[in-house]
Amino acid sequence: MGRTLIVYTSKYGCTEKAALLLKARLDGAEAVNLKSAKVPALTSYDTVILGGSIYFGKIRKEMVQYTAKHEQELSTKRIGLFICAGMRGEQAEQELKQAYPESLNKIAVTRVNLGDEIYPEKLSFMDKWVVRMVRGKGMGAAGGLSMDQLDRFARAMTGSG
Ligand SMILES: Cc1cc2nc3c(=O)[nH]c(=O)nc-3n(C[C@H](O)[C@H](O)[C@H](O)COP(=O)(O)O)c2cc1C
Repeated sequence: MGRTLIVYTSKYGCTEKAALLLKARLDGAEAVNLKSAKVPALTSYDTVILGGSIYFGKIRKEMVQYTAKHEQELSTKRIGLFICAGMRGEQAEQELKQAYPESLNKIAVTRVNLGDEIYPEKLSFMDKWVVRMVRGKGMGAAGGLSMDQLDRFARAMTGSG
């Protein structure tokens, strides 16, 4: 297997945690935060995993910009897509679909919602308020990152499951 790059964006750290857990499960994979680091050129990777969290139904804008800019090159790679999101079921599927360009959703080896974590002490005042408002409406329940889904995702990417 060739080299694997995990490109992610995270507001409070849940997606970062998921990305690093994935990296640990994928031999030799590299992980880069869209916000803090310069993303290496994609030429030397044959597998690219994209991950980001969902706020108000949408993936964070750094990821929108990144995929818009690199869609063509990305569509030549083995692609894995994930989100971290509070929603489950059909709503999460809709969010996942909207999070990434159609061309990438189509070719992805695997695509999944890895789950959510909310760290109340880190939330901005506004976000805290939103979480309080939506609690009990299916979101903000913070069911946690799914280690099952993480393992399954990693196995799908390595082609051993
Ligand atoms: C203000 C706010 C809005 C959110 N909106 C959504 C949403 O529309 N849909 C969803 O599935 N999850 C939503 N979430 C849950 C986050 O996606 C989840 O907490 C995720 O794990 C955050 O990951 P991060 O720490 O990497 O940014 C929201 C969370 C907050 C705090």
